Amino acid sequence: MTATPAELPARAVLQATGLTCTIGGAAIVSDVDLGVQDGELLGVIGPNGAGKTSLLNLLSGLLPATSGAVQLDGQNISGWSPHRRARAGLGRTFQTSSVFGELSVAENVSIAAQAFLGGNLRLWQPATRIRGRSERAGAALELVGLAGRAGIAAGSLSHGDKRKLELAILLAGEPKVMMLDEPMAGVSAEDVPELTELIGRVRRERGATVIMVEHHMDVILQLADRLAVMHHGSLLLCDTPQVVMADATVQEAYLGGAL
Ligand SMILES: Nc1ncnc2c1ncn2[C@@H]1O[C@H](COP(=O)(O)OP(=O)(O)O)[C@@H](O)[C@H]1O
Ligand SMILES: [Mg+2]
Repeated sequence: MTATPAELPARAVLQATGLTCTIGGAAIVSDVDLGVQDGELLGVIGPNGAGKTSLLNLLSGLLPATSGAVQLDGQNISGWSPHRRARAGLGRTFQTSSVFGELSVAENVSIAAQAFLGGNLRLWQPATRIRGRSERAGAALELVGLAGRAGIAAGSLSHGDKRKLELAILLAGEPKVMMLDEPMAGVSAEDVPELTELIGRVRRERGATVIMVEHHMDVILQLADRLAVMHHGSLLLCDTPQVVMADATVQEAYLGGAL
């Protein structure tokens, strides 16, 4: 059973404190305090250029913070490289599709599983490691419904199936926190409901904590326990979808226009 927000323990798995990134004198993310609780799905909304992707980049370490801190499970990971953060359980997908088109679906996931387990891509490996990798990859493909297409080139998948593959690549690393940057981007309208259902199922079955940036309000309202609203690099509001949607400032700033 999925925990409702009221039942969630008040423990932030991922916590940003005063997170700020200034580039060329402009604050692209400004003094963001944001905690994501264990098992919750936090939706991040806001118009183009609001700083949503930059926030994920700061959390995953791809963008260096000018000031502020990030904690994962109570540990300060602020100075950590993206790779170290990923190994610690902080996984993410990207706004634009990022699969290796010429490799097979299975190879794409297998490489991700290998990267998680560590070591180089070598011909000789201990059997336990190979088993670990193929089991993780197989389980991830099964979960997203691509197990039957494991042998085909990833480049020949539809946009919707590429998004599923990106989820499988993410899942192969067994992340504690999954950050999804516009998982519906480029997906045809008829594939959106299936992908929405899949994200909900992945989250339930893996018990993962999720931060999801998404423009589709119907998708975010279906999945999110709480909504964070970004505006000009600042966090305007973070509350239940009901409170956020009823907020006058949010309505004025977004619902009449950009979203
Ligand atoms: N590496 C960067 N260097 C300079 N400006 C950047 C960089 N990354 C993002 N920005 C700027 O920061 C702002 C927020 O961008 P972004 O985080 O991509 O917004 P969103 O994902 O909400 O659309 C934009 O004005 C963008 O041009
Ligand atoms: Mg973005």
